[in-house]
Amino acid sequence: MSEINTLKQKFSIPGIVTIEPGNGGLTRIAVTTRDAEAHIYLHGAHVTHYRPAGGKDVLFMSGKSLFQAGKAIRGGVPMIFPWFGAKAGDSAAPMHGFARTSAWELTDARQSPDGSVSITLELASSEATRKSWPFEFALRYVVTVGTTLDLSLETRNLSAGPITFEEAFHTYLTVGDVRTARVEGLAGRDFLDKTDGAKRKTQPPGPIAITGETDRVYLHTTDMVSVTDTALARRLIVDKRGSRTTVLWNPWIAKAKAMADFGDDEWPAMVCIETANAAEDAVTLPPGQTHKMAASIIAKTGAKGDRPGTNQWEMSGGAKQ
Ligand code: BG6
Repeated sequence: MSEINTLKQKFSIPGIVTIEPGNGGLTRIAVTTRDAEAHIYLHGAHVTHYRPAGGKDVLFMSGKSLFQAGKAIRGGVPMIFPWFGAKAGDSAAPMHGFARTSAWELTDARQSPDGSVSITLELASSEATRKSWPFEFALRYVVTVGTTLDLSLETRNLSAGPITFEEAFHTYLTVGDVRTARVEGLAGRDFLDKTDGAKRKTQPPGPIAITGETDRVYLHTTDMVSVTDTALARRLIVDKRGSRTTVLWNPWIAKAKAMADFGDDEWPAMVCIETANAAEDAVTLPPGQTHKMAASIIAKTGAKGDRPGTNQWEMSGGAKQ
C-alpha cells in the first residue's frame, strides 16, 4: 500500500481530517472543522493555510513558492530548527536549519470535545541530521486547528551531554497592506538589526510602522505581539510561551525581487512575526530534558483586541492550554 493510503487508513477522520496529495504532489493533511480549516504538509511540518470560519486567510503564502523535496516552502509557518539564519562557522549548512526541509512523520490526529483538531508530527535525529548537527534529539510538533491556530514544539535531548539550539515558528501573516499595518508589543525591547550589520538597538515607545526592509531579532521578550491591519479591518495576535525572542521581518522591494521563490509585488501583503529562541536566547537543554515552545495565532476582526505588550498566558496565571 502506498504511504498516503497507509496514513489515510490510520489517521483520517471522515469529513474532518483528510490526507491528500497537495502542491507538487507532497503529502498534506487537510483539516476542516466548524470553526476553521487548515493545511499541514509532512514536508517541513509546514502549516501553509489557516482560516477561521467566516474569516479571511491568516497565513500568507507566496504564489511563487516551491513545493519540492529539499526546498523550503515560502509562506505559512516554516519550522526553524536547530539554528536560526546561517549556521555559525558553516556556510554550507542550510539557512534556518534542516527541520523545514525534512520529511516529518504523522503520528496522531484527533478531535477534542471542543471541536478543535490536533495533528501531531515528529522528527528524530538521523544519519542525515547528524551530518550537519551531531546530536541526538526528538521533536514533537502539535498543530491545533480551532478558533485559534495553536502551535507547540517539544524538543527532547537524547544526547549524552547538553545541546544548544535555536528555533522559530517563522509565521508569515497576511496583511492588507504592510505600509499601513502597525505592530505592537515590542516597545522598549532590544533588537539586533540585521539590515544594519546586526547592530544592537532599542525599540522606541509606540507602535511600529514598517517603512522599509525590516529584519529584527528582538531579544529577551516573552510578550504577545499584535498586528493591527486597517486595510483588512482586523487584528492578528501572536501569543506565546517558552519563547524569549520575536523576529519581525518584511523583505520590502529589493529583497523581494532578489528572492526567486517570492513574487516581486508580494511584500506589501505579508509580515513575519516569528515566535523564536535565537541568538542570546538560544536554548541549552541538559540530557534527558524537554523544552517546549508554543504560540497561538489569533484573528480578531474590527479594532478591538487584547492588550499587546503582555502575555495572555501569564495574565491568566498560566491557565490557558
Ligand atoms: C528571517 C530572517 O527570519 O527569514 C531573514 O531574519 C531572512 O534574515 C528571512 O531573510 C527569510 O529566510 P529564508 O531562508 O526563508 O529566505
